[in-house]
Amino acid sequence: MNITSVESLKGRDFLSLGDLSNQEFQGILDSALEIKQGFKQGDKPALLQGKTLAMIFEKQSLRTRSTFDIAMYQLGGHSVLLSQNYIGWGVRETIRDVASNLERWTDGIMARTYGHETLTELAEHANIPVINGLSDLLHPCQLSADYLTLKEEFGDLSGLKITFVGDGNNVSNSHIYAAMHAGAALTIACPEGFDPDENVLRQARDQGAQVDIYRDPRQAAVGTDVLYTDVWISMGQEEESEKRKKAFAGYTITPEWFADLSPRGIFMHDLPAHYGEECTEEAVYHQRSRVFDQAENRLHAQKAILYQLLADH
Ligand code: CP
Ligand code: NVA
Repeated sequence: MNITSVESLKGRDFLSLGDLSNQEFQGILDSALEIKQGFKQGDKPALLQGKTLAMIFEKQSLRTRSTFDIAMYQLGGHSVLLSQNYIGWGVRETIRDVASNLERWTDGIMARTYGHETLTELAEHANIPVINGLSDLLHPCQLSADYLTLKEEFGDLSGLKITFVGDGNNVSNSHIYAAMHAGAALTIACPEGFDPDENVLRQARDQGAQVDIYRDPRQAAVGTDVLYTDVWISMGQEEESEKRKKAFAGYTITPEWFADLSPRGIFMHDLPAHYGEECTEEAVYHQRSRVFDQAENRLHAQKAILYQLLADH
């Protein structure tokens, strides 16, 4: 199998798509497609033979946990699952001590955290790559899988019209960087007070990202190629449930919205879905939906990320 290698990613952390160049992001998508196609044709090289990934979770997960575990196994490596309950980091011992131990036994760490600064602290002290499996600020692995899905759907991503409807959260923040790398035009529709992170927006706009903020979600969806949504209440925001449900009135995506999309328009969601809030079950199971392709592509995109960061190439 011929796999695109991005030498500049070897040994690096993967905390934010904002840390990558456009070429590095494209290289991840190219190699993900090569690994995916090869695997489906029975070509299963042990690209991570003998490598070990530690996986740390402060929050719940279905997709991230399963797909990193399966990716390591299918590439000839191994993963070790650690939850906050097991290791008690920051309580039982410091994050620096956790990093100083793990780097002696493992080749990389994937972590899902509340505060993004927990990840940066881990990365600062660990001499091995640290991968962001979601923080309150960003979700770069999700957006890598999503842009792989878009590449398969549309081919060329430059000039694509993408609309994110919902909370300016971790998923929307990583969308901004991904759209910037892809040369896509991104519209984010959110109520006032729920905008994406202002530092992410500023950095991406400084680098040429085309991002518009709308307050009318139905208007934002008109003519778009990609209608994307995510939960209104992210993990850790449960106490704000009632306030958020009120603020997002009128933001529930149903299949009726799909008539307004461009003729080739698709619907996306990173999952889990809160049905009756950001969208209905009919939207997720509609023929315009690519939701489960996105979920599948978590596996292929993360294989590419692991290959670029950890493999001996
Ligand atoms: N989309 C996503 O990250 O799913 P999990 O929370 O189940 O990992
Ligand atoms: N914004 C959501 C994404 C879940 C994958 C959350 O942080 O809970």
